[in-house]
Amino acid sequence: GPLQGGRCPFGGASPGSAPALSPTGCPISANAAAFDPFEGPYQVDPAEALRWSREQEPVFYSPKLGYWVVSRYEDVKAIFRDNRVFSPSIALEKITPVSQAAQDTLKRYNYGMNRTLVNEDEPAHMERRRALMEPFTPEELAHHEGMVRRLTREYVDRIADKGRADLVDEMLWEIPLTVALHFLGVPEEDMDTLRTYSIAHTVNTWGRPSPEEQVAVAETVGKFWQYAGKVLEKMRQDPDRHGWMPYGIRKQKDLPEVVTDSYLHSMMMAGIVAAHETTAHASANMFRLLLENREIWQEICENPSLIPNAVEECLRYSGSVVAWRRIATVDTRIGDVEIPKGSKLLIVSASANHDGRHFENPDELDIYRDNTTDHLTFGYGSHQCMGKNLARMEMRIFLEELTRRLPHMELVPNQTFTYLPNTSFRGPDHLWVQWDPAANPERRDPAILERFTAFPIGAPAKRDAARQLRVREVHAEANGIVRLTLEDPRGRRLPRWSPGAHLDVTIGDYVRKYSLCGDQDDPYTFQIAVLRDPQGRGGSAFIHERIRPDMLVRIGGPKNHFRLEEGASSYLLVAGGIGITPIVAMADRLKRLGKDYAIHYAGRALETMAFVERLRRDHGERLHLYPSCEGRRLDLEALTRDAKPGTQVYACGPERLLTHLERLAEGWPDGMLHVEHFSSAGTQLDPSREIGFDVELRDSGLTVHVPPDQTVLQALRAVGVDVPSDCEEGLCGTCEVNLIEGEVDHRDKVLTQSERAENRRMMVCCSRARSGKLSLAL
Ligand code: HEM
Ligand code: FES
Repeated sequence: GPLQGGRCPFGGASPGSAPALSPTGCPISANAAAFDPFEGPYQVDPAEALRWSREQEPVFYSPKLGYWVVSRYEDVKAIFRDNRVFSPSIALEKITPVSQAAQDTLKRYNYGMNRTLVNEDEPAHMERRRALMEPFTPEELAHHEGMVRRLTREYVDRIADKGRADLVDEMLWEIPLTVALHFLGVPEEDMDTLRTYSIAHTVNTWGRPSPEEQVAVAETVGKFWQYAGKVLEKMRQDPDRHGWMPYGIRKQKDLPEVVTDSYLHSMMMAGIVAAHETTAHASANMFRLLLENREIWQEICENPSLIPNAVEECLRYSGSVVAWRRIATVDTRIGDVEIPKGSKLLIVSASANHDGRHFENPDELDIYRDNTTDHLTFGYGSHQCMGKNLARMEMRIFLEELTRRLPHMELVPNQTFTYLPNTSFRGPDHLWVQWDPAANPERRDPAILERFTAFPIGAPAKRDAARQLRVREVHAEANGIVRLTLEDPRGRRLPRWSPGAHLDVTIGDYVRKYSLCGDQDDPYTFQIAVLRDPQGRGGSAFIHERIRPDMLVRIGGPKNHFRLEEGASSYLLVAGGIGITPIVAMADRLKRLGKDYAIHYAGRALETMAFVERLRRDHGERLHLYPSCEGRRLDLEALTRDAKPGTQVYACGPERLLTHLERLAEGWPDGMLHVEHFSSAGTQLDPSREIGFDVELRDSGLTVHVPPDQTVLQALRAVGVDVPSDCEEGLCGTCEVNLIEGEVDHRDKVLTQSERAENRRMMVCCSRARSGKLSLAL
């Protein structure tokens, strides 16, 4: 893209007609100039509206907003993660400047909304967050589950026999508000008043009210503020009440400088909005999305255990918080773009959640997706939503009740959905559904009312996202190698995948990774090839001896940790043995793209090498075979020495082949070599050979002990620090954290030699301390 370099190519000079310039003196592209977060495509679908940006200009200056907009997953996450360089202090600032008249109105009410948690800087933020965390622990949240279930039942009872309802007005708006008020500990008699006020706050903060509207909104916000103060007073009189606000009032006794009066008053108001609208909108988005994807709705009706993952996938695909804000506290960079101190950033999580660099087939709704919890709808890092597990609980119960009691519900056709124009919160104003009450299952079988499924509190467990596939065909691909063709048992389409992607196949107690190697255009099947490995952990032997057509297997994925960058001009594909599986898919893709590529494929003997016929047929002269028993050796030195400049090397095969390449690559430009290891060695911990050590979490001010029988990741989870992980074998890079100091025993396959030498980051799923203590930026 024209603006990707840190220094703009024009140095600020404007050739011909003068284009507008960004604050760093770069010309503003037409797309960036046209970007308007309050109307048009962004309001229709923020992720789609920023597709161009994800692809061409991932960080751009929006003159209409006066903000830098960030759209890629890695960038958005990096900004969330670094709340010192990117301060959240502007998170609740009014995005549309307030008119004098509105300011005067607010002043009359002594409006004093101040820092709460979400917009507080360190170290004050972490101290306060820790002090107020307990009511969000799973044990505490469990006390609210019965109330959420009861409320949901009551609301469904009211609509069940009507045959038609606006789910937003008749259920999804009200329940989260009531739950929020209960959670906060608001007395029953004040609930109705607070209800009427809460919406004004959103328009006030994230919307673009006209000058006249501003005064009216300010009037309501002012009243809300005053009323919040009264409710707080009432709580102070009754210090033993249940709820998060009374808990804060009690904490104030011990920690008056951490839990301040200003905090309590501000949170009394902000807390309602944080807990209410976010959840109401997310629920409405979820029902719209699932009812628009009828097959998936049906599948959930048949199998409620899919609900936690379905909720998560809806939060990813169509979350209720679509963008968040930060401000740069120093001159810095995001990707290649220079960001001056004081720049305001709109980080668009909805766009990040549809970034194909992180989510395979990002635009497909896939309730089996097993990295869906990586979505950024709850933010990330030390400010990540504290209420996420309460929101999840509510959304799961709504979905569980409605799929069980009204499975035949459908969207009223041809309705148009409207949204309140604002940058950050998104959910339809109305959601009309209809059904035939005569067909309600509870009329035939009232026992249905009692037969609900409950879920543990927290993020969905990975294994619940497993997809059951049927073996269609078992084919002897070469000596010692079988190829399996898998399909959906109901004949449905499977998610699309990209070359380099793999499946996690569960066989008994084992989970094994197998690269996809079939036809990328066939949406109904997956193919994997499995080498019988006598030394293997048992999975491959099972597949060879026992797998037959029609058997069912559990799979996770597809996932891709070995992604083909399609922008290069020339490619060298290197495979050893069964390492050909991802390479064959890459070769097919490169041929399709019309690229210059060569395949170098080494093996023991032709009869033991998979796909030889197919490769000869499809890739002809580009294929070079090296069966060692015929004395043909792959000369990696020569091959890479002669490579054209700009060549990208992709390699998969045995460890010695990859180590050799990695050694050669030390002299190459960064990012030229891409390798995939089958599996990392020594991921099983042997406690008798390990040492225990301490890990200091600088951002959180915690020290965690890692005993010899635990990974750092496990020890972090045990104290409630969520670090995302995926492979848990040091292969994927998901669990990377920044290291501040300490000597790391790096055991992953992600970092290069030079990255290890830098000692700035580590993979916590497998790497440990060599000695002494580690300090992490967590
Ligand atoms: C923070 C989203 C529900 C309480 C946040 C943040 C986001 C968010 C994006 C900022 C994260 C960051 O800066 O990294 C959501 C969504 C929800 C939801 C999408 C529903 C689907 C709730 C509920 C509660 C809640 C139900 C409370 C009961 C909070 C609090 C923070 C927060 C207290 C501030 C945390 C901090 O700064 O340390 N939420 N939220 N949220 N949320 Fe939520
Ligand atoms: Fe994959 Fe740690 S989780 S490298």
